[in-house]
Formats: sequence, C-alpha cells, structure tokens
Amino acid sequence: MKRVFGSWVGSVHVALTLFGLPYSVCSGGTCPVKSISTGVSSLCAASPSIMSTFLHVKARSPVYPGSDTRRSPVPDAKVSWETDWPEYSPVTYTAPSVAAKPVWADPDIDSFSPRFNALDGSVDRRSHEGDYSTQDQRPLNPLGRTGVSGRGLLGRWGPNHAADPIVSRWKTDEAGQRVSHTASKLPLLQFVSIKRKDCGEWAIPGGMVDPGERVSLTLQREFSEEALNSLESANRAELHQRITQLFNSPGLQVYKGYVDDPRNTDNAWMETVAVNFHDESGDSVSSLPLEAGDDAGQVSWIDVDSAQPLYASHSHFLEKVAKERHAHW
Ligand code: BGC
Repeated sequence: MKRVFGSWVGSVHVALTLFGLPYSVCSGGTCPVKSISTGVSSLCAASPSIMSTFLHVKARSPVYPGSDTRRSPVPDAKVSWETDWPEYSPVTYTAPSVAAKPVWADPDIDSFSPRFNALDGSVDRRSHEGDYSTQDQRPLNPLGRTGVSGRGLLGRWGPNHAADPIVSRWKTDEAGQRVSHTASKLPLLQFVSIKRKDCGEWAIPGGMVDPGERVSLTLQREFSEEALNSLESANRAELHQRITQLFNSPGLQVYKGYVDDPRNTDNAWMETVAVNFHDESGDSVSSLPLEAGDDAGQVSWIDVDSAQPLYASHSHFLEKVAKERHAHW
C-alpha cells in the first residue's frame, strides 16, 4: 500500500478500517485505556506494524533544515529498509551544534556504546513503535530511509522523545457565545500555538523530554516555557495555579509515536506523546495573557482548522482532537 506520510491524517482511519483494526471502534469516544507512562486516557494509536506502511515525507525534504546539506533522494518505492538497494549511499550530516558535544547530545557512536531499545541509565532509547534494528552499531529509522545518515540536528542516536501539550478552548464571540464554522456548522475549537523561530511555522508548544523526566511533567514545563513567559508577571501565582489545575485534569492522549519531522535522519528521529487539555467551560486558562517565550517567536490562540498549515505532524494531532470533541476540522 502506498501512502504519503504527510497526508496520513485521514489515511489512518481508512487504513485501519481496511485492515479491520480497532481504530473505528474508538472514533466515537476515547478508548478506556490508561497509559502507564503518561497517566492519561488515550485514543487508539496506529500499531507499529501499521505505522511502517506509511511513507514519511517531511523526513525526506530535499534540504536538511538549518544547513545546505541536500538529502540523497529516496523514491517512495525505496523508503523501506526491506527493499533491497545496494547502491543507497546517503549523505552524512551531523550539525555543528550537535558535534560540539552539548550535554543534551550523545557522543559520537565510535566513542561510546549506548544500550539501544532499552532504558539506558536515564536516557530512554526505547521507541513507541516497538524494537528498531541497528546496522553498524547505528539505530535504523523505523519508518525507513531518509537520504541522510548521522544525527543531523538531533542529539540522540535513535528515538528523540518529545511531548506536545494541546491546550484548547471553544471559540466565542464578544457576547461569549460559541462560534461555529460557516460551512461545517460545527463549533470551532482554538488551541495555544507558537510560531517556531527556527522555521516560522505554527506549532504546538511542545519540547523534549529531559532524561528521567515524566512525560506529564514535560507537558506542563514546556507549555509554561514556550507559551507563558507571562508567568513572570504580577499575577504569576494565580496563572501557575490555573495551569497546574488544567494539567492535573484528565488529559486526552491523542497520539504517541513516530513524528514525520524534517530533522529526522536514518539514525535519529523524533517521537512524541501529544495530550489534549481542554478548558470546556472557558473559565480556566481561556483568558490567559499569552506571550512568547524560549524558542517561540509568537504565541496565540488559533482556530483548529484543516486549512491551517502546521509543523511536522501537528495537523494530525489537531484533527484527532477536533473529531473527538465533535468540533469543526
Ligand atoms: C517539538 C514538538 C514536536 C517534535 C516532533 C519537538 O522539537 O517541540 O512540538 O512534536 O519536535 O516534531
């Protein structure tokens, strides 16, 4: 089955329905599953075996981000490691910021031997997609070839774990009435979004899970760091309390797994856990005075709408939130 990863939003439903897998069972509500690692309710995610039938696209974009390095072109038919391609000779690239050996990055593979597919000290080298293979002591991207070997901009060999907090509210007019989309007639959701400084794209204010950190903590920490510089302001204590309350409420895990991220390489890739925290009544965080912080250029409530282009696989996560909350998409 040929599939373009960038459009697997709808394809997940279709593919899983075709395969007779339980996604459709969950589409009307959340699965009664409590995730052990995050402690939040979760929707059924695509299983690893199904994920491997999707083709990553952003991870094969011609020019590697932040560099002049051009990826060796990988046609759709050659993405899978299972397809024999003896001539495959990807360009090697490790960004100067990673090669400079910062604390958040692994050393070069020749000088250390990480324990792949395991919790390696406090660094989690397990993939949400199941066990990955290695070749010449290097982990192999579970979604296949990318046209670049080495780590690029990513610090870890293998999976680099992130967490994405999706903070949402219903869109209202001046009178406080819910606003519906003119075409779909469904109510509009809004979510807290940041404009990333590195690429200028709108994104969920997520970030990397620190070694040994619980995902639930990363979600709140990143949200506060990326979106709420205003926590430094006068009403800091009250804002902090409201945010803590929201993040302590049962979040809805909408995704856990590989991300089609432009920074991915053959040996290093992004994975994330995306969790929705929703202010249903509008009296919790909906009135937050948003201010950009950390590596965010701008921060704003933006409409949840399929027409809005978003970073990496973030549209896919928002679509799940919209469908789950019976909102416009
Ligand atoms: C971002 C997350 C994103 C992940 C994968 C992280 O750097 O902060 O928002 O989901 O990369 O693309």
